[in-house]
Amino acid sequence: MTDHWSPASWRAKPAKHIPEDYPDLAELSRVEASLRKMPPLVFAGEARRLKSLLGDVAAGKAFLLQGGDCAESFKEFAADNIRDTFRLILQMAVVLTFAGGKPIVKVGRMAGQFGKPRSSPVERIGDVELPSYRGDNINGMDFTAESRIPDPQRLMQAYGQSSATLNLLRAFAGGGYADLYNIHRWTLGFVQDSPQGARYRELSEKISEALTFMAAIGVTPESHPEMARVEFFTSHEGLLLGYEEAMTRIDSTSGDWYDTSAHLLWIGERTRQLDGAHIEYFRGIKNPIGMKVGPTLEGDELNRLIDVLNPKDEAGRLTLYGRFGSDKIAGRLPDLLKATKGRNVVWAIDPMHGNTLTANTGYKTRPFDRILSEVRSFVDICRAEGTHPGGVHLEMTGQNVTECLGGARAVAEGDLADRYHTHCDPRLNGEQALELAFLVAERLKDDRVDLALAQAV
Ligand code: PEP
Ligand code: CO
Repeated sequence: MTDHWSPASWRAKPAKHIPEDYPDLAELSRVEASLRKMPPLVFAGEARRLKSLLGDVAAGKAFLLQGGDCAESFKEFAADNIRDTFRLILQMAVVLTFAGGKPIVKVGRMAGQFGKPRSSPVERIGDVELPSYRGDNINGMDFTAESRIPDPQRLMQAYGQSSATLNLLRAFAGGGYADLYNIHRWTLGFVQDSPQGARYRELSEKISEALTFMAAIGVTPESHPEMARVEFFTSHEGLLLGYEEAMTRIDSTSGDWYDTSAHLLWIGERTRQLDGAHIEYFRGIKNPIGMKVGPTLEGDELNRLIDVLNPKDEAGRLTLYGRFGSDKIAGRLPDLLKATKGRNVVWAIDPMHGNTLTANTGYKTRPFDRILSEVRSFVDICRAEGTHPGGVHLEMTGQNVTECLGGARAVAEGDLADRYHTHCDPRLNGEQALELAFLVAERLKDDRVDLALAQAV
């Protein structure tokens, strides 16, 4: 690897999962040139703020909650959908903060999460074989030859949708919706009558009591405006490097390059080759970044990747998302934690991507039990190895979908067809996501008790 880096230096490296079959490459270049002139979506200072919060996570003082759609889509783009995922994240954060007693760093897989690496370049239904759907910013999901042709104009539409989504998220986060006094109003309609809804109500009543007490001693949103807003960040997989390159700008304060398409970008499991285009691009941007770590990655290769991605060993720069599968995590994670001991990284868990299977009915799904099991194993293994279990990375939605099996309402194989709306992988619905938050909360609470005991001795 040479030292010279530019936003375009990735172009000299082998790139996986970036489409090359645009019918008109000149049009793609024109769209990228237009994107270069569009306003940045986020500012470098915000990305630095997230990096500093993730530094707290690395130090064991905070916990990362990252979640949203597997793939955002043009069709499901609606203010209600954005609000519902946002308030679900707020609810989960309340559950986690209350139990763990630590700040929750809130990051949406939102406002730019479109492009998908696919396990197969083609999709077959009966006798018909077509190029795979690759995300709404590349081609269309309809199973027709025309819809599957990559269209550069989709990048502009994705930019526009990301910008509108982020605008609404900023309004929700700072405009009063996230005021702790609204805690009762965040519950999603369909979750209200569930066991999780009842547990959440109980918890929000306790918090309301605490707020009443605090108001009585003069601590109110008027005296402490931070009580009425939350810090919320955006993230997506940095897959389509042409788009990311076009959004990469020099920050006038620091003189450094930032990818202004999101606060945090991550490298997927399929594109983390040491000599590949994605690692080349990511090493040069100064945003906090993430990388997926699957069951085939060995400790020495992981350390070489860390050397390239976080050469100065900066806290908060690099988050590793384990995604092994509930049956593999115990065989893989302990060695990787040992190998990365002393390195300034956040270890988090993505319990979704190693637990995908195809149901008899043909639907791609994930058993909720396995998702919970991988999270539990993650916390237990981290503890055994003396590493802070830093966070969770989830595919989830505030919509009442039936995409993952199980949960309190026991979604069965036969139910999957009822409300299966995802554009790619199956997501947790609101109830399942809240159930998972309660489980993690219990584990974090145990951590707190252990810590208090250790300090007492
Ligand atoms: C994803 O996060 O949607 C994804 C494709 O994950 P992974 O890279 O871990 O397979
Ligand atoms: Co996915």
